[in-house]
Amino acid sequence: MSFSQDFIDKVLEANDLVDYISQDTQLKSSGGGGGSQLMGICPFPDHIENTPSFSVSSSKQVYHCFGCQKSGNIITYLREMRGLSFPEAIEQLANKAGIPIPKDEMPRREVDKEVSRKKEMVALNEMARVAFHKNLMELPKSHAVWQYLQKREFSEEIIAEFELGYAPDDWEQLSKKIMGRSKSLELASQVGLVRKRNKGTGFYDLFRNRLMFPIVSHKDECVGFGGRVLSKEDQPKYLNSPDSDVFHKGRLFYGLDKAAKYIRSADKVVIVEGYTDLIALYQAGIRCVVATLGTALTAQHAKLLKRYTRNVYVLFDGDGAGRRAAERSLPILLTEGLFPKGLILPDKVDPDEFLKAEGPEELRRLLSTSPDLFELILIENLKGFGGHASEKVQILEKLTPVLHSITDKRLLGLYLQSIAGRLNVTPEWAWKSIKNSKPKEPQQQATARQKTEDNQGVRELPESLIDLSKATKIEIELINVCLLNESALQMVIDYEAGAEMATATGAQVLGLIVERYGQMPSKFDTLTAYLQSRVEPRELVAKHLKKPLSEMESEGAKKLVNECVKRLKAAKLRQKQREYANKLADPSSKNMAEQLEQIMNIHKSRHSLNRENGSEE
Ligand code: UTP
Ligand code: MN
Repeated sequence: MSFSQDFIDKVLEANDLVDYISQDTQLKSSGGGGGSQLMGICPFPDHIENTPSFSVSSSKQVYHCFGCQKSGNIITYLREMRGLSFPEAIEQLANKAGIPIPKDEMPRREVDKEVSRKKEMVALNEMARVAFHKNLMELPKSHAVWQYLQKREFSEEIIAEFELGYAPDDWEQLSKKIMGRSKSLELASQVGLVRKRNKGTGFYDLFRNRLMFPIVSHKDECVGFGGRVLSKEDQPKYLNSPDSDVFHKGRLFYGLDKAAKYIRSADKVVIVEGYTDLIALYQAGIRCVVATLGTALTAQHAKLLKRYTRNVYVLFDGDGAGRRAAERSLPILLTEGLFPKGLILPDKVDPDEFLKAEGPEELRRLLSTSPDLFELILIENLKGFGGHASEKVQILEKLTPVLHSITDKRLLGLYLQSIAGRLNVTPEWAWKSIKNSKPKEPQQQATARQKTEDNQGVRELPESLIDLSKATKIEIELINVCLLNESALQMVIDYEAGAEMATATGAQVLGLIVERYGQMPSKFDTLTAYLQSRVEPRELVAKHLKKPLSEMESEGAKKLVNECVKRLKAAKLRQKQREYANKLADPSSKNMAEQLEQIMNIHKSRHSLNRENGSEE
């Protein structure tokens, strides 16, 4: 994976962190000097607070939360807040700033043809989305599609927000448009918009006389469609885009593009099964909602959700299919360490019907009191349970795969207790019988999953981060003074303090600072943001943003540099002294006299260092 640092710099410089954070929280100038320091309520959903402790430095382009200690730069913000991968973040920032991404800056595996092919596929979908939406908006309200929308009680705002559309009852409206813009019909057939004619030549439109739901990825690209029939006679009820290089039903949710921010702020997500259910919930104000695309929930779905929240509410139809789907999703969600809750609606209604019959408040109430999905499934399995020994064994057997998927030991313990209570057995007995039946090849399954993911690039990391926790306290302090104050950094460079660092990690990070500052001394302020993308944990290079360091003037900073360097030197000497002492203690070692002299020398150096310091260490 390789964007050059130059390119990354250019992209970072053209964007303002404050713009992005302002979308998620309100920032106010924090009074004191400069005005480049802004404060607001922490936007991260796992940190709920009433008084602002989230600070953003617009001059340094970094954020730091004094409450939850999160800190980072614009890239880490996009990754952690918006769930983008590193290359996705860079790409989005570049696009926003209108900076073209040079071909050789592309992540290696995505070069040239592959990228432009995917881009073209997305462009075709985007074109269709605009055309479908325009069709709908130009039709009179008396048209069947509007009649249908009115029957479903979709508001005009919702229709606009979800960019619903209409594919006309026509075999080539879209094909002609694609041809007219000299786009590739071959590619259009790969994303499922058109299909090659069996007889004769040419292509025909696949979506005809359907209400169109564009499916938008978290990168804000239209990657596919669901198209619903308008009359009961037509088949299939929903026609979905086929899986392609840009569309993977097993990795996408409908609505996540809009719901993401609500999922974060509510710290929970409701999963429903259909397009219309999602829109109905969203319109009713329950906005932390996503829908699967007519397929079962996958491990990749669960991983995707985990980027946003761990609290998952499975809200499925009350019919048999809905119950089975809920049951199948349980081990998948548990395996990812999520906390699934479940709500199966009564009387075989779906969420949309329930909302219309009972209202949003009732659904909210049911959701907020819904039990763990495990309990729900357990109860389902206990239906008709007569207390016989053979039933106990059978029920336990059925639950075994689910229990094996639980990664949280505490949760497992509690669920075992619950099972034991209901089956009237001891938890120990339940545990023993589960332990003895090992799940089938969980290891192999896991590695197979990992492999496909690697190939598909779900997880991409920037070049490996330096683990700064391996450095000593003093080193971290010195690094922070360097980031705080330019004259302090200059002093460190003059002293060649890098040579005094206690650990290889400390030396490496200080080296990065010195090197980069050397390359562009006028960009001192950007050093912090740069380091935020090179080390972890990131808060270790954000200490200078906090009191008391943040309030230190040049003189104080320089004094602190002096002190740190002395302490580093002293620590080095102590270390050497120990080494020699150990050698001396070793009866097989030679040159006793020489080593003794070395120790004396070190001792003297330490003494003079202490005198300089004017204090005992
Ligand atoms: P439903 O049949 O429950 O449809 O299928 P729905 O969403 O409630 O739609 P309305 O309320 O009848 O308009 C649930 C989901 O299953 C997928 C779709 O994603 C749908 O939203 N599905 C269903 C298909 O992919 N194809 C089908 O033929 C039917
Ligand atoms: Mn429905």
